[in-house]
Amino acid sequence: MKITVLTGSPRANSNSGYLAGEFLRGAREAGHSVFRFDAGHANVGPCRACNACHMDGPCVQKDDFQLVRDHLLESELICLCTPMYYFGFSAQLKTLMDRFYSINGRLATPRKAVLIATYADNSPREEAPMLLHYEVLLQYLNWQDAGRLMCPGLWPAGAVKGTAWPAKAYELGKNL
Ligand SMILES: Cc1cc2nc3c(=O)[nH]c(=O)nc-3n(C[C@H](O)[C@H](O)[C@H](O)COP(=O)(O)O)c2cc1C
Repeated sequence: MKITVLTGSPRANSNSGYLAGEFLRGAREAGHSVFRFDAGHANVGPCRACNACHMDGPCVQKDDFQLVRDHLLESELICLCTPMYYFGFSAQLKTLMDRFYSINGRLATPRKAVLIATYADNSPREEAPMLLHYEVLLQYLNWQDAGRLMCPGLWPAGAVKGTAWPAKAYELGKNL
């Protein structure tokens, strides 16, 4: 498969970014072709709702979204990796996701998706908004869930190293 991994953390030694790397390593070892785009370190502006794209055309904003646009359209699987920010996707990743609007017509076709999220607390209730968002998004886009890792108890940068989560992310990528 061709896979695009989108990450959403802006910080160095990011937990979700590390898991993205392990997922990617497993997927590449399994023979998949993987493109990674780090939204937290890119210049991607928010959708301006000008509707010049009519949900299926070039975006008027000439920024780093152009670097990932065609990869998304060509991908059979899209992996969303994000820290939990106030019970949802990070703004960095959500900003990128809002730009899906400009390619919505061609992106909303059968594909697979993976969700990897890290967060500090340990609460199924706090995971619920992000999981519901993911499920409704997939239903809307006609994408099928291929796995999700909700990883609690991870607050400082790098905390994920030495836990069981990197191996799980690797296995998820390896066994798609
Ligand atoms: C702006 C901000 C909002 C956060 N919101 C939450 C939250 O709602 N629940 C939680 O458990 N952790 C929250 N955290 C902690 C991060 O989710 C946690 O540190 C995560 O592992 C960071 O992933 P990263 O290293 O990939 O950036 C927040 C952190 C920041 C900076």
